[in-house]
Amino acid sequence: MMKKKPWFEIGPHAQIDDGVTLGYRFEGDTQPLRIGAHAVIRSGAILYAHTTIGYRFSCGHLALIRGGITIGNRVVMHHKVTLEGNLTIGSGVKIMAHVYIPSTTRIGNMVFIGPNVTILNDKHPQRIQRAELDGVTIEDHVTIGGGVTICPGIRVGARSFVAAGAVLTRDVPADMLAVGAPARFQPLPAELARGNLPELLLPQTDLFGAHKDESWREEENGWASPVS
Ligand SMILES: CC(C)(COP(=O)(O)OP(=O)(O)OC[C@H]1O[C@@H](n2cnc3c(N)ncnc32)[C@H](O)[C@@H]1OP(=O)(O)O)[C@@H](O)C(=O)NCCC(=O)NCCS
Repeated sequence: MMKKKPWFEIGPHAQIDDGVTLGYRFEGDTQPLRIGAHAVIRSGAILYAHTTIGYRFSCGHLALIRGGITIGNRVVMHHKVTLEGNLTIGSGVKIMAHVYIPSTTRIGNMVFIGPNVTILNDKHPQRIQRAELDGVTIEDHVTIGGGVTICPGIRVGARSFVAAGAVLTRDVPADMLAVGAPARFQPLPAELARGNLPELLLPQTDLFGAHKDESWREEENGWASPVS
């Protein structure tokens, strides 16, 4: 079979390293990869066709972003993040290194995901046949600590904070601190109850502080949430 030519459209002011693959294609893809203005994409990243990404997107080395994905504005992901296909991520989301996000996951706006987080979508893999995968939903302004595992089908309520190393086996209500494996819930302490701060989440930076922009300050943070 002939290899398909890559297919992508990218907005102005992009900084794309050598060694990036944009618009990797499969048979049957009906849309290109689309990326908004001011993207920064580091070497080794692979982004598939049939995915749409907003403006001010930053992506670290060796990230893998497959097809069927919708990503909002001002999303930053660090190196070796894996986004399997067919999932949704809102705006103002920051994802640290080595995070695994499978198909059918839905993530709202202003979410922070710490390093080495694993999100799952099939409770009994290779043992029970299911018609559909059981995706995780993460509502707006959630923080997920490093090394957290989120089991299939779990919903994490708005503004909740998940402690490092927790294993989520039940839905987390809004405004809770989730701690332990399996996680137990307690009300958030006052200093963590405000949700994620735009001044920490929204500026587009990389590890060396380059590409700083202040334009988020003028922006109305009126993004519609993809998770309701
Ligand atoms: C849960 C968390 C918010 C608690 O922070 P804190 O309110 O300052 O609490 P403290 O460090 O004073 O710890 C309070 C108690 O909780 C325990 N604890 C703290 N973090 C814990 C965790 N992740 N899992 C289990 N227990 C934890 C402490 O051992 C302590 O127990 P003790 O009272 O029996 O001694 C914080 O530890 C955490 O996990 N933050 C996420 C960090 C992260 O993943 N960042 C990612 C980007 S680098």
